[in-house]
Amino acid sequence: MQTMPHDMMIRPRFDDAVREAYWGELQTFLETDVRPGFRRHYETSVEPQLRDVLHRSPDRHEIATAMLGYPANRAWYVARTTAQRQAFDASRAIVDQQADELSARARALGNGHAVLELDASLPFPRYVQAEPHNMAGGYDDSTGSHPLAAGATYDRALAVHRVAAMGPLVDDVGHSIAAMLKTAFPNFAPRRILELGCTVGHTLLPFKQAYPAAEVVGIDVSGPCLAYGAARASSLGVEVTFSERNAEHTGYADASFDLVFSRILLHETCEEAARAIFAECHRLLRPGGIMFHSDAPQFDELDAYAQSLRDWDIRCNAEPFMDGYYAMVLEDEFARAGFARDTMFRLFAPSLIVQAGYRAEETRTSGGRYFLAGARKATN
Ligand SMILES: C[S@@+](CC[C@H](N)C(=O)[O-])C[C@H]1O[C@@H](n2cnc3c(N)ncnc32)[C@H](O)[C@@H]1O
Repeated sequence: MQTMPHDMMIRPRFDDAVREAYWGELQTFLETDVRPGFRRHYETSVEPQLRDVLHRSPDRHEIATAMLGYPANRAWYVARTTAQRQAFDASRAIVDQQADELSARARALGNGHAVLELDASLPFPRYVQAEPHNMAGGYDDSTGSHPLAAGATYDRALAVHRVAAMGPLVDDVGHSIAAMLKTAFPNFAPRRILELGCTVGHTLLPFKQAYPAAEVVGIDVSGPCLAYGAARASSLGVEVTFSERNAEHTGYADASFDLVFSRILLHETCEEAARAIFAECHRLLRPGGIMFHSDAPQFDELDAYAQSLRDWDIRCNAEPFMDGYYAMVLEDEFARAGFARDTMFRLFAPSLIVQAGYRAEETRTSGGRYFLAGARKATN
């Protein structure tokens, strides 16, 4: 039987675990075994027809629309949406059954390693969807059976369904990116590190482990996710601070951090918010400090067919801002925020668990590497 990765994750009843695993396996099967096969149909049948009509290469919107005429792809959209929804629902049902025990464990861990700062008066941004990526209750579920439900559901769902791709602590991204940064900036020794939109700390905690002397802070607009994240970090013995703040205007002092970053935050914000966040990063950094944002690769890193695959997320998975964010020319935006072009970088961090042979590259939607783009604040 599966070992629980930390004390804030409780073993479910056997039948609930089977249901949760079933929907998770179905998601993985649809992503890794079924969908890649559709490219062949596109290249041999759909693309030639589009070129005949358009007399040029089709763009991502034209490809997505044309591919919806392919019955297997339409069926995939329905099955993938159902699997996604059911997987989150299955995890949520388990969390709800464990409400009392989860609250008791969090209380017992209350004065542990992590610090929690909540601000009940902080407004929730309008652009954050009620149920992003079909997650039952969303990030800010205050109507749930208990105040930790949103964070506990997010953690369960990712840990159980993405275990093969991310590891049981969902920390492969954080460890892989931190390792890449150390290689790219070997003399960089941040004293204060800030993650924007940290949710329950999956990526935050590896940064404390990579830079143990640094003070590490994660902010988010979701109090329920932060409260769960603090209990989870305490149970893992990692000293980090979770603080309820908006990444667009954090309230921290000018030049108060050496490293400011985000991971899969920006595609869930609107373009205006992303621009405000880049400006806030520039304000928060000390001279010589580094900003980076890691997300799926921008459209300019992908061919038009790969770009068109985002259509399902936008249409069916409550991710309406993906198209706008991935189309942004990040370097222009960083320059607008005050960063010099010669300090900008794009990197792909190889996944450490793929490198270790734990999981084959082709079975992962990330392709075995994580994209990040950033810049360094001028020293003068
Ligand atoms: C996909 S999750 C990020 C996952 C996390 N970075 C990780 O690596 O595990 C997106 C998070 O961004 C938060 N968020 C959205 N807009 C925000 C904002 N303006 N300021 C702070 N957090 C925000 C959401 O509440 C949610 O927890």
